[in-house]
Amino acid sequence: MFTIKNHLEVKNNHLLIGGADTTALAEQYGTPLYVTNEARIIENFSAYRKAFPKADIYYAAKANGSFAIMRILARQGAGTDVFSYGELYMALLAGIPREKILFNGNSKTDFELQKAVELGVKVSVDSQDELHTLSGIAERTGKTAEIAFRVNPDVSTPTHPKISTGLRTSKFGIPAEEVVDTYREASGLPGIAPCGIHCHIGSQILDTEPFVEATQKMMDLVKEVVELGIDLKFVDMGSGLGIPYKKGEQTPKPQDLADAILPVFNDRTQALGTSPKLILEPGRYIVADTTILLTRVNTVKKAAKNFVGVDAGFNLLIRPAMYDSYHYVVVANKASSPPEEIYTVVGPICETGDIFAKDRELPRVEKGDLIALLDAGAYGFSMSSQYNGRPRCAEALVKDGEADIIRSSEGIEDLMAKQKLPARLM
Ligand code: LLP
Repeated sequence: MFTIKNHLEVKNNHLLIGGADTTALAEQYGTPLYVTNEARIIENFSAYRKAFPKADIYYAAKANGSFAIMRILARQGAGTDVFSYGELYMALLAGIPREKILFNGNSKTDFELQKAVELGVKVSVDSQDELHTLSGIAERTGKTAEIAFRVNPDVSTPTHPKISTGLRTSKFGIPAEEVVDTYREASGLPGIAPCGIHCHIGSQILDTEPFVEATQKMMDLVKEVVELGIDLKFVDMGSGLGIPYKKGEQTPKPQDLADAILPVFNDRTQALGTSPKLILEPGRYIVADTTILLTRVNTVKKAAKNFVGVDAGFNLLIRPAMYDSYHYVVVANKASSPPEEIYTVVGPICETGDIFAKDRELPRVEKGDLIALLDAGAYGFSMSSQYNGRPRCAEALVKDGEADIIRSSEGIEDLMAKQKLPARLM
């Protein structure tokens, strides 16, 4: 037995996850199949806990909102960052206490704001417009909305432009120079209790420097807001810590992030004589490497490239098509066989961009082989669709070598589930 990447082991030429043989899982449950290792979720969450013992960790539900995964994290004491009423509903059902939820979003509906107020969940307010809507709702319902403002700190991040969120031109947050005035206004509005401040600069960031810059900028604002007489109970620095998608890649860990930002945070809060709680909202780091996507080889074709056609497409894992992102590939039934040829692994979707992995050295691949796409736990299933008439696949959760299905695969009937014909077309 040896380890192929992180917690994933190889035994008798087969890839194992959480002690379960992936070839047996594929046989039993069919493919495509998402498989998550429960122990790894807990390890990753604990790494954050240990690095930030005094902070609250609000898991970002968007990364993977599967109910069993939310429940595991709720039991670990996680709070959550939600971006829709759907995520809020699921988080509460999973057992995340309402006091540990922050409702984020740059374009919330009035219904969503109403729900947040009714349920007593903190709201990260993204615009002055939203502030006024929220104040109106709070006044009408006789409740007080606890809020933070989402700050656009104007920090550039070395990541894919589609997931850089704190640039001056990005759609998220209130420009840093307007933030203090917005707090001043908020403190005079009925039904509004400003009690925190929030930012999030991007995702899959592999350098701690942008986090330090963001912390400094946020603490400058905290100082000004506190000087207004507003009691800030929390500073939410969002998330963005990346993971090593490539094997052997050296990337910062939660402890490195803590070593970089806590001195700034602690010094600055001490100087102010306040003690706001630090909140962090990791998504990717908690779940990305916990999960693989198992997919069966339908066909191997030698053309301009050596194509391996598998039964999962970008409808199930859109990251490579959307962000050109890299996912490590293992031939799960030949996991310790030596590499022999260069292959490009593609899905069955009718789009040229439906490519999971380009030009990878793999053992000889044949029809019927099982491919594992690694690090698929974050923004994998949660971004899936039924594009090209493809029902979504099942999800399995493994613990101590035993698997449970935590989401059944969709069938053809699910493609029709919500569709109706007008009478004239009957
Ligand atoms: N907090 C807020 C306000 C966010 O917008 C996000 C992610 C997070 C926390 C979690 O960030 P993380 O720890 O996962 O970096 N679909 C893209 C990533 C989009 C991230 C959106 N926001 C991907 O597959 O790379």
